[in-house]
Parts: sequence; C-alpha cells; structure tokens
Amino acid sequence: MDCIAPMNPKSIARAAELLRRGELVAFPTETVYGLGANATNDTAVARIFEAKNRPSFNPLIVHVPDPETAAAYAVFTPMAEAIAARFWPGPLTLVLPRRPDCGLSRLTSAGLDTVAMRVPSHDRARQLLRSAGIPIAAPSANRSGLLSSTTAEHVADQLGDHVSMILDDGPCAIGLESTVLDLSEETPAILRQGGLPQEEIEDALGGPVAIASADDDAPKSPGMLTRHYAPSQPLRMNASTAQPGEALLGFGRVMEATKNLSPDGDLVEAAANLFAFLHALDTPDHDGIAVSPIPETGLGRAINDRLRRAAAVGETD
Ligand code: TXA
Ligand code: MG
Repeated sequence: MDCIAPMNPKSIARAAELLRRGELVAFPTETVYGLGANATNDTAVARIFEAKNRPSFNPLIVHVPDPETAAAYAVFTPMAEAIAARFWPGPLTLVLPRRPDCGLSRLTSAGLDTVAMRVPSHDRARQLLRSAGIPIAAPSANRSGLLSSTTAEHVADQLGDHVSMILDDGPCAIGLESTVLDLSEETPAILRQGGLPQEEIEDALGGPVAIASADDDAPKSPGMLTRHYAPSQPLRMNASTAQPGEALLGFGRVMEATKNLSPDGDLVEAAANLFAFLHALDTPDHDGIAVSPIPETGLGRAINDRLRRAAAVGETD
C-alpha cells in the first residue's frame, strides 16, 4: 500500500497537517493502531464512522499528548487526577465529564455529556499528537466486526481505501486495547478490560472496582450496552411535517425544517450534524422533535439506529 509511511519526523509532520485539515490518518499506539481524525471537526469524525462501516455510533476515545492537555477537554476530580498521574501515559482510557467549553465534536461523544480521554505511552504517537496540536479521536483501526489492527499492514488491508496515510512503526507492544475506566459517576467502573490490569487499578483505588462491560465491537448482552444519548423531548421518526409544538429536524429537500441535517441529502454531513442539532433542538421551546426519513444505507443506518434508541427511551426506561 503506497499510503503506508515509516513513522519519522517528516512523516509525522505531514500526518499532523493532514489531521488538522480534517483527513483520516492511522497511527500506532502501544495498544493497537488507531484511526485518527480531528476530534473538534464534525465532518472528520463522521468520516471515521463511514470508514469503519459501523451500523451505530459509539463514543470515541480522544487522544492527547499529556494530562495537562486532557484537562482542557474533561473535568478531573481529585481521584481522576490521581489515577491519571499514576497511569498516564499508558494503556488506560478515562471516561470523564466533558467540559462545556471543550470544543469537541458532539459526534465524538455520540451525544453524551462525557468524554473518553487517553494519553498513549507510544513516544512517536505522542510526538504526532503534539505536532498536530489538536485532540485526535481514534477508535481501533479496524472495520466493524473485524479484529483490531496491530500492524500497519492490518490497517491497510481493512481501511487502506479510506485513510490519507498510515504511519508505520511496526507491531504494537501491547496488542490489546486500553482499559476503559469510567470516573464520571460516583462509583468508578471498568467499562472495558484491556492493557492495564484491573488489579493495578484496584491497587490505586484502594479497593475493588465495579465491572460494567461496554466493548463496542464485542457482542453485547442486554444490560451491558453502552449508555446512549437520549433527548429530554419525545422524538418522532419518519415525519414528513411537524405537528403543532414540534421542531422539525429535516433531511434533504424539506420545507420549513427548524434545522436541516443536510439539505443536499448527504449522509456524512447529516452524521456530522446529528448530535449537535439534536442538542440544539432539545429545549423547552418545543414539546417534541420530529425527524425526516433518513435512508437506511451507509451512515444512514447508524443515524437511524441512534434515532430509534432516542425515540424508544420513553417506552423502555
Ligand atoms: O487502545 C485503545 O483504546 C485504542 C487505541 C487506538 O487508542 N482505541 C480504541 O477505541 O480501542 P475504540 O473506539 O475501538 O473503543 C473505545 C471504547 C468503546 O468501548 C467505547 O464504548 C468506550 O471506549 N467509550 C468511549 N467514550 C465513551 C464514553 N463517553 N462513555 C462510555 N464509554 C466510552
Ligand atoms: Mg474497537
């Protein structure tokens, strides 16, 4: 694959520039290769989901070069600070409340008020993050349902057509994703077992930690699903017009839409706008949100999946 580049100062500088411009770049970390995009750019983040071909939106991990930078995007309690000081840089991801002024794409967090932050220990990965100067959203660089990539060749096989560049620094040292620890609630919980053993976290916390599996690519049993965004207003799908009191979230050539996900019917644009527009319409100004029909193809499947869950909240919760 000609887009594979050995990772060195020159290729890192080029990759950083591509990332700033909103393109996708795959890069190694100590755990697995990541499929990176500018986490503040809605369209760039939407392209990650398009490339992975996932039928749903899962929140993504935001990668930064050091704990100080992480504090610009997420709220750290003293406990979170202590955990970060002990295990970062390293194979641990912390789920923390988003700072209201963080500037991260809503799609990065899949509409949630939390954000997953990680400082990798891979030196060249951190050089890339420092050189880019922007937070990088990066899921594991594999197509949905396939194994995570631990070499640049794995990435090229699965995603070669979707990335502008693949930085190659050989096989990943750990070869297993980071451990995801949720510190956004009162009780810390491991959402995904990974490169940092549970025992080390328990040693740091001074006691047993709750386990709540939420692995994105693994088959899920009920009750182990990732938390998902739910608007406080009722949501109605496949609506051609709004009823009195409803806001209309349009798609395509829709008259009188309160907001339109993509007047041109572009699914990448619609995905990029989805959570930001839902948040904007979820105000007491309306009694409900009606949404135009979205085609069930490409990113439309993920958009409809999230809308269906949001529409079903009143029925199931
Ligand atoms: O080792 C890793 O973590 C790799 C490298 C590239 O850093 N990245 C990775 O990302 O595995 P991904 O997207 O494949 O997995 C992210 C995990 C998922 O289980 C997701 O549900 C969880 O983190 N996650 C992300 N944000 C979350 C949030 N706000 N709340 C709960 N879970 C979250
Ligand atoms: Mg993954």
